[in-house]
Amino acid sequence: MSLRRLAKEQPESFVFTDEHQARAEKIIAKYPAGYQASAVIPLLDLAQRQDRWVTKPAIEYIAAMLDMDVIRVLEVATFYTMFNLNPVGKSHIQVCTNLPCMLRGCADVVRACEDKLGVKFGGTTADGDFTLSEVECAGACVNAPIVAVDDDYYEDLDYESMGKLIDAIKAGNPPSPGSATGRQGAAPAGDRKSLTEDPTPTYSARDWAAAKQKFEEAQEAARKAKENA
Ligand code: FES
Repeated sequence: MSLRRLAKEQPESFVFTDEHQARAEKIIAKYPAGYQASAVIPLLDLAQRQDRWVTKPAIEYIAAMLDMDVIRVLEVATFYTMFNLNPVGKSHIQVCTNLPCMLRGCADVVRACEDKLGVKFGGTTADGDFTLSEVECAGACVNAPIVAVDDDYYEDLDYESMGKLIDAIKAGNPPSPGSATGRQGAAPAGDRKSLTEDPTPTYSARDWAAAKQKFEEAQEAARKAKENA
């Protein structure tokens, strides 16, 4: 289970850049008057994109901006693992360890990260290039095990492919996000398990004239049987 606490060391203050301030105001304007608190997640995300993590002053700044109690913004920031509560390295590797990923071998993916980076969950490499984090369901269980590297999802990973992914990021040449086994989107792994037959409806090929004749013959036979009864 991932532990969610604010960092002990915090900056003195936070303020959005002019660009982000304008974007924040645009986001808030999307909500009806009195419902500006609904913008809390996008604004926390904006603060994180600015500093790469969510600081306590940023939480207070957003609370004031949205006219919310600080505790309510803090609740949101500490609930979602998408918000980094500590500074992170240049690449933030987030490994999902929830049930579907566990059943599909995330322990090997975690081991590959630890072997390659020399850090455990919550750790940042000495050169500041990588932070390794544990997350609870990345929302892509069907392609488990899943690792998010910042905004990109890498799927169907195992020990070897995870190691190769880290090597590629280190070399400045990360692969395209998606499945490491080449499966398309969320299609079934391996052979197709459903829709294996021609889905063309059979009624279009039916001989309606013959069916009508058969129906009328059956009706006629039933009528005669009734007369003779
Ligand atoms: S359990 Fe890993 S993505 Fe859902």
